[in-house]
Amino acid sequence: MNFTGAHILSINQFQRQDVDRVFAVADQMEPYALRKRVTRVLEGAILGNMFFEASTRTRVSFGSAFNLLGGEVRETAGFENSALVKGESLQDTARVLSGFSDVICMRHPQEGSVADFASASRVPVLNGGDGANEHPTQALLDLYTIRQEIAARGQTIDGLKIAMIGDLRHGRTVHSLSKLLSLYNNVQVILISPEELTLPEAIVEQMRSAGVQVTISHELTNSIVDVDIVYSTRIQEERFSTKEEADLYRGKFRLNQAIYTEFCQPNTVIMHPLPRDSRADANELDSDLDNNPNLAIFRQADNGVLVRMALFALVLDVADKVDEFSYDVRWYNSRQV
Ligand code: CP
Repeated sequence: MNFTGAHILSINQFQRQDVDRVFAVADQMEPYALRKRVTRVLEGAILGNMFFEASTRTRVSFGSAFNLLGGEVRETAGFENSALVKGESLQDTARVLSGFSDVICMRHPQEGSVADFASASRVPVLNGGDGANEHPTQALLDLYTIRQEIAARGQTIDGLKIAMIGDLRHGRTVHSLSKLLSLYNNVQVILISPEELTLPEAIVEQMRSAGVQVTISHELTNSIVDVDIVYSTRIQEERFSTKEEADLYRGKFRLNQAIYTEFCQPNTVIMHPLPRDSRADANELDSDLDNNPNLAIFRQADNGVLVRMALFALVLDVADKVDEFSYDVRWYNSRQV
């Protein structure tokens, strides 16, 4: 894949060597993300951060990643604050915003909307989530985290056994991660969901065709007994026609410390793309796991900055110049204490 100037819309664009390239550049970003060094390599560049659907992590970590590379961020959040509410098309919006920006990140509730926007953009567009379709940068940071967590025990992604739990029908992070895992060898995936919320058949087929061993389950505890990773997800309430319909599935597959201790291996890594739904009727990942050293959810969120810095550096072709435009931080850094 030639990253320079590319739109990042789907995991289907990636080969294994492309993922290796992203991860190598992400590793290189650590001193900047940890505020040991400052780089100004993107000084003068502008990110258009366009989020037409709710977000905390993706929006802020894209913005932080761009700032950490020395660039500036201009944001629109919500339809109500954009001219889309006046009937402007996504393509016209792209034609205009790409005149103001060097790269654009976008989230939108409709599947395929980010690709539609990108088709009229003069600058690279990164998909921050398009409806229930894909969330490619989340999958890259998830796999980066998996690699990091299991490396400590001498394992690689080849041979991984992972359970993905929850609303697999609508969960775009699971869709993108499933496609990404298909690039690796001897991977076993256990898909745990209510019968009505199984992973789309096309993605199951894509994994099986690539040699992934896929098991479908509608029961939690006996399906997580010997996995390396449990990847929990939220019921995607915003994809259902009514809250009452989503309520039918909420809280069906709760993981807490007691279940973890009884059924998981002692070193099973716990992941979640976040936000976890911590309301009493959901609570898919209980806060009593917060002191479990294998809970990787906040390390996972931190890694989003590294991976998004890497993607910006690659699509704007500065990955080899990041250190050249750098210096030590001047301020008190609580991360290093
Ligand atoms: N993981 C994720 O996409 O989180 P946000 O919805 O907060 O961006």
